[in-house]
Amino acid sequence: MTPEGASVPTLVDPTTNVIDVTTDVDAPSADVEVPDTPAAEEVPERDRELVFELRDLEVQYSGHTAVRDVDLDIAANEITAFIGPSGCGKTTVLRCLNRMHDLTPGAKVIGQVYYHGENLYAGKVDSAEVRRRIGMVFQKPNPFPKTIYDNVAYGPRLNGRKRSELSDIVEHALTRAALWDEVKDKLKHSGMSLSGGQQQRLCIARALAVEPDVVLMDEPCSALDPIATARIEDLMEELKHEFTIVIVTHNMQQAARTSDRTAFFTAEVDEDGRRVGRLIEFDVTEKLFMAPADPRTEGYITGRFG
Ligand SMILES: Nc1ncnc2c1ncn2[C@@H]1O[C@H](COP(=O)(O)OP(=O)(O)OP(=O)(O)O)[C@@H](O)[C@H]1O
Ligand SMILES: [Mg+2]
Repeated sequence: MTPEGASVPTLVDPTTNVIDVTTDVDAPSADVEVPDTPAAEEVPERDRELVFELRDLEVQYSGHTAVRDVDLDIAANEITAFIGPSGCGKTTVLRCLNRMHDLTPGAKVIGQVYYHGENLYAGKVDSAEVRRRIGMVFQKPNPFPKTIYDNVAYGPRLNGRKRSELSDIVEHALTRAALWDEVKDKLKHSGMSLSGGQQQRLCIARALAVEPDVVLMDEPCSALDPIATARIEDLMEELKHEFTIVIVTHNMQQAARTSDRTAFFTAEVDEDGRRVGRLIEFDVTEKLFMAPADPRTEGYITGRFG
């Protein structure tokens, strides 16, 4: 089911092709080092340009609430991290941000999601265009079985970009994804021939090639080794100057290292005996990790539960 009035797209955006992911759960760590970079604090609240405003958001699957009570503001050029135990609704909320649930049978989004002040779920909004502006990178790198070049050119081509423009677009996207130097001599090789970390950067390049405004990342490093993870984290730091990034991660250090703000979700049994996810706390990352306001947040980040 789609939100009232929403149109179901007939075309799945190439940058958002859905894959079935199995979740690797990294155990929460008791010792999360929070780097001394309170970037979000340097920006006074009144100057933050809000990209998303979530108000009383709830998502149901086949009539059962998966997550509710989500009120969250996501600002431009910040990295916002979603953390919390498995099943608490992180992916579910992330997918509300680019209307991915339009493609999920039985999913219903209730409440409001404003994107640059506009109701993202208004009937007139073209959800395929939404997914062009708001790209997504998944847990498992999922390059198409095509050449490196064609992986990146696929979206722009579909969007009608001229053949003569494509080489520049591909080079620019691969450069922004910190992959150009490694692949510039083998653009005709299959994307599948790259290492896992390179494939994930290829997927990031593919998402960037359609000039998005926001990049959503659902556990983008959980299948990668620490070196590839560090490259993606460095890349995120670079990309946030141009894009707004929302990342779901089970890796507490990653949230602490990379994000400006963190949202902690958890799942609790409701009055009907069902587990329902809720947003418990949302704050500047340093504050959430160093001085959480809610004991449930503290319990999770110190590894006492979750
Ligand atoms: N397509 C779906 N159909 C039915 N239920 C779903 C669907 N997707 C998610 N759920 C349920 O919604 C709840 C939240 O799931 P979600 O995938 O958002 O959790 P998560 O926090 O991302 O977990 P993880 O950390 O394991 O990825 C879970 O109870 C899950 O079983
Ligand atoms: Mg998930």
